[in-house]
Amino acid sequence: MRATRFLNACRGEPVDCTPVWLMRQAGRYLPEYRKLRSGRTFLELCRDPALAAEVTLQPIERLEVDAAILFSDILVIFDGLGIPLEFVPGQGPVISKPLRCAADISALRTFVPEEHTPYVLETIRLVRRELDGQVPLIGFAGAPLTLAAYAVEGGTSKNFTHLKRMMFAQPDVFKDLMAHLARAVSSHLRAQAEAGAQALQLFDTWAGILAPEDYARHVMPFSCAILASLRDLEVPLIHYANGAAALLTELGRLGADVLGIDWRIGLRRVVEALGPDVVLQGNLEPSVLYASEEYIESRVADVLAEGATARGHIFNLGHGVHPDIDPGRVRAMVDAVHRLSAST
Ligand code: CP3
Repeated sequence: MRATRFLNACRGEPVDCTPVWLMRQAGRYLPEYRKLRSGRTFLELCRDPALAAEVTLQPIERLEVDAAILFSDILVIFDGLGIPLEFVPGQGPVISKPLRCAADISALRTFVPEEHTPYVLETIRLVRRELDGQVPLIGFAGAPLTLAAYAVEGGTSKNFTHLKRMMFAQPDVFKDLMAHLARAVSSHLRAQAEAGAQALQLFDTWAGILAPEDYARHVMPFSCAILASLRDLEVPLIHYANGAAALLTELGRLGADVLGIDWRIGLRRVVEALGPDVVLQGNLEPSVLYASEEYIESRVADVLAEGATARGHIFNLGHGVHPDIDPGRVRAMVDAVHRLSAST
């Protein structure tokens, strides 16, 4: 049943127990990841299909999760677009020439997946072969707003001043940037599905920085267009928004099959707002994994009870797993999800 649990839940179909995977399930909290990462940069790891495939598979056995997620990053498309990107230790992504004006946007190149990120497609093919149907593989991309946030700010930001200035003072420039990114994301995701990704997730990490009316006007049309452009693929489309609580009405209209929700709102309240037909993914507070196994289990039970009010539920954290979490606690969480949801 492990092979079909995740995809069945995405479609709101019956499952033997609640499927579970974690955002950032491959990464620094795993010693086997740190070993492969040592002596090379993060982007070198992403660009080496054999190594990226190995990292993708690392959490599958150790954690017994019900889906694999491609090891890559939302920012790998920047190079092809002509936006120079570096990951600086301790600082995260750094874009040395941030996009600030109309000329910067018109200089952007068209993203061509086979040409600019062939290593992503090769990794997907390798992972599918190695998984041999054990669990499905999720492909992903960043949503246009989150990508624009990094490209315009030049990296991680506190207040997103440059991004918001562009949105409000140069709305046409911002719109051109969002349209360009939306086209790139659409072809990136389509290529991943064609290479073998069995579900696609759009990450909108920074959706929560906007007022709902600004999200609706400046962001939603582009995320909607991406999802609509992928409809013919017949793979489940998951939309994750961080800060979902303030945007529920808008998120409900995106056209996603599954809504990924962060931990700041209970899933029951999402169902109350959007109706019992929704399929939800989430949303344990990631810091709960610092607690004892008994406490983790009690919080897993709470999330399962809330998730049971939706048509389908895929258990996940409300955001990525922290790099200093004990992998043993993650395994305890996964086991608790399976055990508690099978007995109810
Ligand atoms: O979930 C997975 O296991 C798949 C791999 C994955 C990574 N990044 C690997 C990664 C996924 C799905 C992402 C998505 C991503 N990347 C998002 C959206 C989700 C989120 O976390 O909000 C964002 C905003 C990024 C951009 C990004 N990548 C930042 C800001 C950073 C630096 C912060 C950090 O955690 O180090 C990264 C680097 C990154 N992406 C690492 C990993 C495993 C750490 C790399 C390392 O130093 O080894």
